[in-house]
Amino acid sequence: MRSFPGPVQYPDRWDKNYIEGRIRKERGRLGWASDGHVLAKRSKPLLYRIAELSLSVSGLYRRGHRNFLNPRFREIEHPLPAWPADLDGFCLLQLSDLHIDLDPRLVDPVRAILRRTEADLCVITGDFWEGGRTDHQEAPGALAAVLKSLPRGVAGPFGVLGNHDAIACGAWLESRGLRILLNEAVEIQPEGREASFALAGVDDAYYFASADVAGAAAQCPAHRFRLLLSHSPQTAPAAARHGFGLLLSGHTHGGQIRSPGGFGLRSMPGIPRKYFRGLWQEGPLRGYTSSGTGACQIPLRFHCPGEIVLHRLRSRPD
Ligand SMILES: [Fe+2]
Repeated sequence: MRSFPGPVQYPDRWDKNYIEGRIRKERGRLGWASDGHVLAKRSKPLLYRIAELSLSVSGLYRRGHRNFLNPRFREIEHPLPAWPADLDGFCLLQLSDLHIDLDPRLVDPVRAILRRTEADLCVITGDFWEGGRTDHQEAPGALAAVLKSLPRGVAGPFGVLGNHDAIACGAWLESRGLRILLNEAVEIQPEGREASFALAGVDDAYYFASADVAGAAAQCPAHRFRLLLSHSPQTAPAAARHGFGLLLSGHTHGGQIRSPGGFGLRSMPGIPRKYFRGLWQEGPLRGYTSSGTGACQIPLRFHCPGEIVLHRLRSRPD
């Protein structure tokens, strides 16, 4: 069973050895084959099966699923001392962790938010797919519809791969118009403006240890503000060392299922708590970890809504 249509055509700018190395790492970790087919379906972990059953019996499943289908729109202002005054107020829209094949019905509420939103640039910070455990045939169409609904910006849209994304999926996303930044950087200069900034993106750090922050930083044009997209926020210390001023990430889902007091019922090994959810600071680097737009493992959310975030970048000190 193929999870996305068409033969895999990798972008010319991606190094062939890198692609082969990434595919080698994917074997055994993901439910993807290198040609984009889903391998034998893996079963859901026992903990999640027990959780699903108990929630169904108690009637909470329906409520959690309603929450899942109701992502919120959130606006955040970032006072950034190094952000160019010429680009004050630049708006960057972030989606993350769609895991679209978990439940493609998410596409309608997401598109409803996108239809009423304007932005200068759109980014998606990884985990486009759940992969391996699902077989929703409508998932590629749903993801393509989300990509089509993104507000037109000055460039892009751009994305980075997450720990659920095979590199073959990244190639498919490129064919649908989403530029995947695979340890690379581009310069963004809005028309009619003198100022520009560097937008960099790294491959997954969490499963594949493939994030090359130094390599992406080396491609940033000199004397420009550096903005990094990284699926996992664990790249923050390296990003701070390499002169990035803002890092946007996802991966943790903010916990996804939390108690009424906000206590997280999920933890994530390898991710320091300070980066787990929302805004954080790492020396001169400001960061934001999205709670994700979709969900992982089970399409439920409690006390931790999915989100689509509009980041407004301001050129003034905190
Ligand atoms: Fe995710």
